[in-house]
Formats: sequence, C-alpha cells, structure tokens
Amino acid sequence: MFRPPHETDPPDSVRRRRLFVRRRSERAFNMTSGNSQADRRLAFALALKAEGDYPGAASALEQALELAPDWAAAHFTLGEVREAACQRDAAIAAYAACLVRDPEDEMGASVRLALMGATPMPAALPEAYVQTLFNQYAPAFERSLLGNLSYRAPRQLGEAVESLIPAEARWARVLDIGCGTGLAGEVFRGRAAWLEGVDLSAGMVAVAGRKKLYDRLETAEAVGFLVDLADASYDFAVAADVVIYMGDLAPLFAGVVRILKPGALFALTTQRGEGEGYLLGGEHRFSHSVPYLRRVAAGAGLEVALLREAACRTEKGRDVPSVVCVLRKPVPAKEILAGSLPPGRRSGSREPGSMPV
Ligand SMILES: C[S@@+](CC[C@H](N)C(=O)[O-])C[C@H]1O[C@@H](n2cnc3c(N)ncnc32)[C@H](O)[C@@H]1O
Repeated sequence: MFRPPHETDPPDSVRRRRLFVRRRSERAFNMTSGNSQADRRLAFALALKAEGDYPGAASALEQALELAPDWAAAHFTLGEVREAACQRDAAIAAYAACLVRDPEDEMGASVRLALMGATPMPAALPEAYVQTLFNQYAPAFERSLLGNLSYRAPRQLGEAVESLIPAEARWARVLDIGCGTGLAGEVFRGRAAWLEGVDLSAGMVAVAGRKKLYDRLETAEAVGFLVDLADASYDFAVAADVVIYMGDLAPLFAGVVRILKPGALFALTTQRGEGEGYLLGGEHRFSHSVPYLRRVAAGAGLEVALLREAACRTEKGRDVPSVVCVLRKPVPAKEILAGSLPPGRRSGSREPGSMPV
C-alpha cells in the first residue's frame, strides 16, 4: 500500500519483487478495520491484486467495505485496483472516499488524485504520508539506499562544499534538514562544533540517534521548525535528498536564509526537472528545474555558489538526473568593506563540471 521512496523493481530479482509485495500486504494486514471478516477480504484482495486479478480484487474490496464502510485502507486499495484496471473515474471516487476518512492522508490518496490530474499539483507531499513512509522505511533505509540504489547525495554535497571553502574551515552551528538516518551528518560532523538534525519521521530520527552523531535531534516538519530558530544563528545548513518531497521551495528557502549567518552556505540536492518550475513524478517525488532553483534562490535573497548536474542515485539501473546546489547568504556590503568576510569563504571558486554561477 505504501511505496518506499526509492524502492524499485530490480530487473534481476523476481524474488525481491515478491518480498516487496508481501511486505506491502503484511502492512495492510496489520491495518485492521476492527472487523476480522473485512480484514480477511482486504488480505484476499491484495493477493488477487498482486496476481493481476483486478476484477476479483475489486469485488473482494467491495465486500470488505460493506462490512467496514469507513475503512480508509480498503478505499485506498480499491483506488489502486481501479487505477490498475484503467477505470479512472472509479479510481478517483475511491481515492476521494479514502481521503474523507483519512484527512491527514497517511496513505497519500491526495498524491494519487494529483497524479491522475483530478486535483491540482500539491505544493508538498502530505506530512502524514511522508512520516508513515519513512517510519516504515527507516530500518531498511540505509541498506536499500546505499546498497541497491548507490545513493551518493551526502558525499556529493560534501565534495561540492569542499570546493568552496578551505579544508581547515570549521562551523559553530550546523543544521541538517531532513536528516533521516544521519548520512549527511556523517559527512559534515567533522566540521561542526554543534550539529542539529530535524526530520519528520520519528523512525528515521531514532536510527540517527543511535549513531550519536548529533548534538540535538528533533522530529518536526522542517519549515515549521525553522520558524522557532533565531535569526542569523547557523553557519551551514544541508538538505540531502529532502526537497524531492516538497514542490514549492520558497517557504524552505525563506526560512533557511533567515537563520543563516551572512556568508553561510546552504547545500541541497534535488531531482533535476525540465522547464521552468517543479513537477510531481509518478514515483511520488518532485523534480525541480535549474531555472526554478535559481529563481527561488534569488527570491529568497540567496546567491548561487555552485550548481552541478549529478546523479544522486541509480534506479532500475539508470542514473537519476539530479542537481547538487550550494547557495550562499550574501554578506552585506558594509561588512565586506570592513573586511569581515566570514571564515571559510573562498569567493569565486568553481570546480570543473559546475555550471556557471
Ligand atoms: C531520502 S531521505 C534523506 C535523508 C538524509 N538527508 C540522507 O541524505 O540520507 C528524506 C528525508 O527527508 C525527510 N523529510 C521529507 N520532508 C520533510 C519535511 N517537510 N520536514 C522534515 N523532514 C522531511 C523524510 O522524513 C526523510 O527522512
């Protein structure tokens, strides 16, 4: 029912696919309606769906819903089955029925509706959906990302930042936005006297906590969390593979620019999109175009220090087009004249392979 964010169908492993289907089914089995007969119908429907028997699955789900009419999971699964059977209107009705019963949208019914063109594209994925997704994914996250998907965003961000500041530069306060299990924290810990991490998912934060890397860890939505932080109090912020769960980046950039000290860097990765804006893809992640990143950065008052095309991970054997982006909060002219350029700032440096900034 829930799609791990980077889980793919490895072409070489039917076994893995079966395991994946089973895991999804098991999750659904755990989501009880309170009526054991209805639960069995949903379990049966999931098995039929996995075999491609969509009419059979729909019929089992309708029986489940007769017994438990307000069961969001059954409405959602019916939406999936109808969608798989190319019954657009019926799928939309089922997802809408799910949303009425699950208004926080743990299942991501609103994402399905947007992808079907039934509703406008959201500005971000629903918080409850991202939380549920990553809470479930947390125990397997690093194995899946580092192993199966050759995830390299934190390392690429580390290299990008290295190219902009001297090797000996150290920061007093660093914020890891969407810290997950701490992979970016591992890269930047050595430079940070104080390292904070914030993430929506308690499951991910728990894994990060066990590493004892962070001086402070919070489970919270990033943009809301920033609101409570003091102005100009951080020397560096990073968001590795996080903004792919946000479409509109203006609120995040505005929050980050406020908490950064003048001259401080904000490093992030995203999936590279085409055109002028951002787009929600079928894999439930947003991509952002380079013109969009530049526009939103400029709107927030951030300078582009580095923009580099990259591939942050590999999916289905293919590199995922990505962007490594490092932004800088400008230093007011009077501070430059006074010679107080922040420590570690190397102006105008650019690595080969970077786009002109
Ligand atoms: C793909 S993981 C990346 C984690 C980590 N940065 C890394 O590089 O391994 C994305 C993380 O972003 C978090 N996330 C997504 N949207 C968020 C938001 N609005 N506020 C806080 N965390 C968010 C998710 O919970 C998840 O842990």
